[in-house]
Amino acid sequence: MNHDLFGHMEQALITLQPGAFILRDFAGDCASQLWQDLQQVLSAAPWRHMQTPGGLTMSVAMSNCGRLGWVSDHAGYRYAVEDPLSGQPWPPMPPSFITLAESAAAKAGFDRFRPDACLINRYEAGAKLSLHQDKDERDFSQPIVSVSLGLPATFLFGGLKRTDPVLRTELHHGDVVVWGGPARLRYHGILPLKAGQHCTAGNARINLTFRAAG
Ligand code: SIN
Ligand code: FE2
Repeated sequence: MNHDLFGHMEQALITLQPGAFILRDFAGDCASQLWQDLQQVLSAAPWRHMQTPGGLTMSVAMSNCGRLGWVSDHAGYRYAVEDPLSGQPWPPMPPSFITLAESAAAKAGFDRFRPDACLINRYEAGAKLSLHQDKDERDFSQPIVSVSLGLPATFLFGGLKRTDPVLRTELHHGDVVVWGGPARLRYHGILPLKAGQHCTAGNARINLTFRAAG
């Protein structure tokens, strides 16, 4: 660990691949505010398990906040302005979410990032996200900013083809991953979550992924 002259910890910026970075514990200091604000979002747009276009139920429970929300059903994957459960707009992105996402993006060199969508994922034991590309957004010049809360998980980060070799790294409460530029369309995923208990998140891992979708 690095300490500067004033005794603060330097937040490490680890390069995974050109354009892809891990900011260890970047969200640690504001995690309790994020957690509190997340509960407000979930009271308006509760967890649900979406269906894949092929009719399978996803193991990850999801919600959204921001102007646009990512949805999946028999008609396909897309961004929608309304929560299909309520018919209402998605809850607004809390200021704590916006500040964190923009500052993490800036730290990774993307200083024009203005997210309009935040997909919220909840993994319980066994839940996983298979290798996929984030490609439902309109502007691939903008990065993805992904914030981990709660239980640790193994993040998979591959190449531009599904069959390319995959890096594995453990993501912990407060870690942020940013990928953009040449890494924007890399395949990524999460291995099945191991059972555990986290003091804030209980038996779950929560992931916030911020996107400029529209
Ligand atoms: C995602 O790919 O949307 C989420 C990745 C994660 O949960 O870390
Ligand atoms: Fe993704």
